[in-house]
Amino acid sequence: MTDSQPLAWLGNKLRLLDQTRLPRKEVYLELTSYQEVAQAIREMKIRGAPAIGVAAAYGVALGALQIKTSSKDEFMTRLKDILQTIEATRPTARNLFMATSRMQKAAEAAGTVAEIKEALVREAASIHSEEASATRSLARFGAGLIEDGFSILTHCNTGSLATTGYGTALGVIKYAHEQGKKLRVFATETRPRLQGAHLTAWELKQAKIPFTLITDSMAGHFMSRGEISCVIVGADRIAANGDTANKIGTYTLAVLAMEHGIPFYVAAPTTTIDPLVASGDEIPIEERSPEEITHIQGVSIAPEGIKAANPAFDVTPHLYITAIITEKGIVKEPYVERLGGIIDV
Ligand code: MRU
Repeated sequence: MTDSQPLAWLGNKLRLLDQTRLPRKEVYLELTSYQEVAQAIREMKIRGAPAIGVAAAYGVALGALQIKTSSKDEFMTRLKDILQTIEATRPTARNLFMATSRMQKAAEAAGTVAEIKEALVREAASIHSEEASATRSLARFGAGLIEDGFSILTHCNTGSLATTGYGTALGVIKYAHEQGKKLRVFATETRPRLQGAHLTAWELKQAKIPFTLITDSMAGHFMSRGEISCVIVGADRIAANGDTANKIGTYTLAVLAMEHGIPFYVAAPTTTIDPLVASGDEIPIEERSPEEITHIQGVSIAPEGIKAANPAFDVTPHLYITAIITEKGIVKEPYVERLGGIIDV
């Protein structure tokens, strides 16, 4: 496992870098059951849409390897329970459901129980390597939009940790940096889970890319001062019309970017596009525990017993999105036709 690779398949267990412990400690977990994988996804020890998809696939493979029966019917019934448990972890990231659907199809296409088990491990490994190579390729396309001297604002964490590959929005930034372009990055801290402060700052520091950490609410200030050349974010699910669900706060950034005439780019592999969802209104938005708002690192910061809302994602309507960067190229309006043209349904 290289520095910021979040997971590795060890044949009969899944090794995970616990992202809830970063940046203070690099703690590796060895998960030996699908229930542990489901819990790790729910608790965001592994997070980021593509990484969730890969972990989900290995979780299903792990569960399947542990089913002790030679009856195909019984095996498929137990596999269904495993798929349901994994799918119930986090509802927004499209990659999770893409992964479980591919795992189910791989099982259905195989013969005996032993063959199904082998097919599931193979399919999980394919999902892993495809996600990894997709982000490298989208990063190359995206870097073409970045000019020498750009100052880029990004939100949440979209690097290797979030993708198991090179990164989406952060991949574009890393690629442009490797091309020798002089860049400055503004990374939002990303309330409430602080993926920007904990994880993006960690990855940018490792990559030696100059950056400044800001609170989410400072974005408008820096835009109004002419300090931001473009905004690049990732995506958890992109509807057929280009509406994009991403980390809470993304919509605010998109509206601010438009107000200031700043290009707003979404970078995501095509596995994040959901052709069955017509618009952002239909994307399920995960609601997480109010404790993530009322507490910081376990310490209460608000009066006891108050109400707090915690939608983990918001939807940016496609009208605010200058372009969507994918591994198959850069897509602009009209999104319905052009996104439809690049995905395999
Ligand atoms: O709640 P998280 O940390 O899983 O949310 C992650 C994001 O919103 C990312 O921006 C998104 O998954 C794209 S990352 C490749």
